[in-house]
Amino acid sequence: MSGTADKTFYLETFGCQMNVHDSEKVIGTLLQQGYRQVQTVDEAGLILYNTCSIRDKAEQKVFNRLNDYKKLRKQGKKFGVLGCVAQQEGDRIFEKAPHVDLVCGSASYRNLPQMLVQLETVQTGAGNRLTGLDDRQTDLCFETEYTARTNPHRGYITIIEGCDKFCAYCVVPFTRGKERSRTSGSVLAEARQLADLGYTEIQLLGQNVNSYRDPDEKMTFAELLAAVAEVRGMHRVRFTTSHPRDFGRDIVDVIDAIPALCDHVHLPVQSGSTRVLDAMQRLYTRDEYLERIAWIHSAKRDISITTDLIVGFPGETEREFEQTLSLLDEVGYDSAFTFKYSPRPNTPALKLDDAIPDEEKARRLALLNERQRQISARRNRRHLGEIVEAMVEGKNEARGQWIGRTSQIKVLNFTAPEGMQLKAASYVQVQVTNSFPNSLGGELKSTNIESSEQRVIQSSNQSFND
Ligand code: SAH
Ligand code: SF4
Ligand code: F3S
Repeated sequence: MSGTADKTFYLETFGCQMNVHDSEKVIGTLLQQGYRQVQTVDEAGLILYNTCSIRDKAEQKVFNRLNDYKKLRKQGKKFGVLGCVAQQEGDRIFEKAPHVDLVCGSASYRNLPQMLVQLETVQTGAGNRLTGLDDRQTDLCFETEYTARTNPHRGYITIIEGCDKFCAYCVVPFTRGKERSRTSGSVLAEARQLADLGYTEIQLLGQNVNSYRDPDEKMTFAELLAAVAEVRGMHRVRFTTSHPRDFGRDIVDVIDAIPALCDHVHLPVQSGSTRVLDAMQRLYTRDEYLERIAWIHSAKRDISITTDLIVGFPGETEREFEQTLSLLDEVGYDSAFTFKYSPRPNTPALKLDDAIPDEEKARRLALLNERQRQISARRNRRHLGEIVEAMVEGKNEARGQWIGRTSQIKVLNFTAPEGMQLKAASYVQVQVTNSFPNSLGGELKSTNIESSEQRVIQSSNQSFND
């Protein structure tokens, strides 16, 4: 690759939306350095993985992937590991996957340009390995000069990085470092930039987005939400992930007050048992969590609620697991992401005996998923007959259906008169005629809501399925 005019890279992203957005920053940086993004490993000189370490499976996936392509090293291809596994494993990655040339954690991407120059000049091989992991304790959020906006309909803005909560099971405080927020001024400037690019939907990101603290002390999180939603041209503003402990009533009030804020809150609960929540160090009880849910339920708007749940945390009894099942009924989540507990390096829960066998975790997970499926089906049925606004996210040509997304973040597949062309990222009105546990179905009613102009984004990867 070195010395050739055509510098190509392939990038695969694992993990959460923060990683997806980090990849947009990495792509922007590489494009700026004269690289060209390609869609297959075969075409690429540089192969990058932006990795996730949240559960063991996620980490193993990365090493399997690296292993699969080991032989390509002989063709002079170079390999880089970015993101959370990079931060967690550091130099150990070179032992586990000796063909890796570059290891760079998420707080060090600002050094990527120099690292890339070094990488281009060195020959592949031991002794020439590059590591960038040093900046995790920085006071700054990671911002790059260039960001490739790869999502054609949603603009991401990181408002807070890192996590100070140290939940007993979680690796994030070790991979992402301490909590640090961006100033409200810089967040608003980025929101205006996105509006200028033609984005009408913005998602504010943070591991605990609502723990946001303006370094300039000008705005609370709820005030920042309001200010972003009032940026000219903004039609939908989302935020994720909220931590229950820092979830104030002012967030619900502001959603009620400002139409551009979406009807959706993602509020991970993890368990329905106060004893387990305490062992997880989640900093709230079941009742305190339910109090926050009551605020959301009492809103004037119909706000959908989604969550994350873990089964089989060390010591979780059958009765405690049943409390999680009963919490699902009590809250009536629109949907839930469910996981088996996975022991992670450095975390406090590692000291606990992970005595619940995998089959038992799997049994609990299946029960949980089945219960949630019924609740999601019920929650979706209530939309039947409604006319709802959907943002057009793409088209499933095989099924002849358009793919839309509601303000409540539900997928709404709909039909439109044959031959009709709908613009990506425009808004339409759809009558809901079908409901399923994981999606809605409907028919186009009208296209006359403000439709955003097609924008030009610096991207070669226009994926419709984020
Ligand atoms: N900051 C967010 C969650 C980020 S991680 C919050 O506090 O809610 C996303 C989800 O992964 C978590 O909500 C949790 O449900 C799950 N998770 C994290 N660590 C895990 C582990 N060790 N095993 C299983 N699931 C885990
Ligand atoms: Fe992990 Fe807890 Fe921080 Fe969420 S709040 S990222 S679960 S430590
Ligand atoms: Fe995974 Fe890192 Fe996100 S561990 S979930 S990619 S913060």
